[in-house]
Amino acid sequence: MKETNIDWSSLPFGYVKTDYNVRCTFKNGEWGEIVVTDSEEITMHMAATCLHYGQEAFEGLKAFRGKDGKIRVFRTEENGKRLQDSARGIMMEPIPLDLFKKMVLMAVKLNERFVPPYGSGASLYIRPFEIGTSARVGVKPADEYTFIILVTPVGPYFKNGFKPTNFAIMREFDRVAPKGTGRIKVGGNYAASLVAGEKAHDLGFSGVLYLDSKEKKYLDECGAANFFAIKDNTYITPYSESILPSITNKSLTQIAEDLGMKVERRPIEVEELATFEEAGACGTAAVCTPIGEIVDLDNDIKYTLSKDGNPGEMTTKLYTHLRGIQDGEIEDIHGWCDFVE
Ligand code: PLP
Ligand code: COI
Repeated sequence: MKETNIDWSSLPFGYVKTDYNVRCTFKNGEWGEIVVTDSEEITMHMAATCLHYGQEAFEGLKAFRGKDGKIRVFRTEENGKRLQDSARGIMMEPIPLDLFKKMVLMAVKLNERFVPPYGSGASLYIRPFEIGTSARVGVKPADEYTFIILVTPVGPYFKNGFKPTNFAIMREFDRVAPKGTGRIKVGGNYAASLVAGEKAHDLGFSGVLYLDSKEKKYLDECGAANFFAIKDNTYITPYSESILPSITNKSLTQIAEDLGMKVERRPIEVEELATFEEAGACGTAAVCTPIGEIVDLDNDIKYTLSKDGNPGEMTTKLYTHLRGIQDGEIEDIHGWCDFVE
């Protein structure tokens, strides 16, 4: 296998060209053959629904090279199911789970030389996405869809990696509507978050901690990651109809239980931030990142969640356990990893 000349330990979270991507199209009521290509381009009709009416949904999952040299993909099936939910939420054709899984494993195998080595801190990010390609001028769903999986090696999403990072509360922006598309992973949600996200970055924050759009009373999520907090040996995470059901959060919830912690999924009022011992942002890209400070910019209130500038004890335990399963160091008792043969 040809070597890459990538410096794995200093990789940012960005796009690096890999060897191949895999594609499949839905036409005349059925999914076609899987196509492997080295092209980074897509050609489509200029009136395609993905371009005009936002018929696009995506996923994000990761492959890791383990201590034993084997490549593990984390929670393929959960990501496949969520992509189906996203597709249904914007009237696109759901991708059959077996096709999704086959294409994920294929995309990783074909780009095996880009799976970062064990211990480098980097991983292979897998980005499956589906787009509506039929030409429409009236607002109507397409009847032709393209599903593509690209992979790219990535480093940490937040620039300091596993170090406390800061978030801002800004009530002037909503990411999603109360009963809108927040629960699914569609491109439009991210377009709607760009202005607030860039403003937070300009002010020196990693991102926005969104409040519920209806009352601005409860915590929703941290940009492209879910929020969790720790108090009295309890893992607490928001219940909300407008957040993405994070698969990392679901995994951490299970790990917390396995480690003997209590778990609460419930509405969390903003003011409760003052009572938490630790907090974090979790997601495939974010992994399990400790939160240092949350600043409520509208009320000039600072919530300090890391007293000494270091990750808290429980956040570290959760992070280490999650990464241990992904790297094959801790037994995968729930069967979360798929192997790339
Ligand atoms: N919330 C949003 C808005 C996201 O984009 C993501 C990333 O996928 C997450 C949460 C975390 O979800 P997951 O852990 O499934 O990657
Ligand atoms: C992920 O964590 O997979 C995401 O999709 C986050 C972001 C890069 C959009």
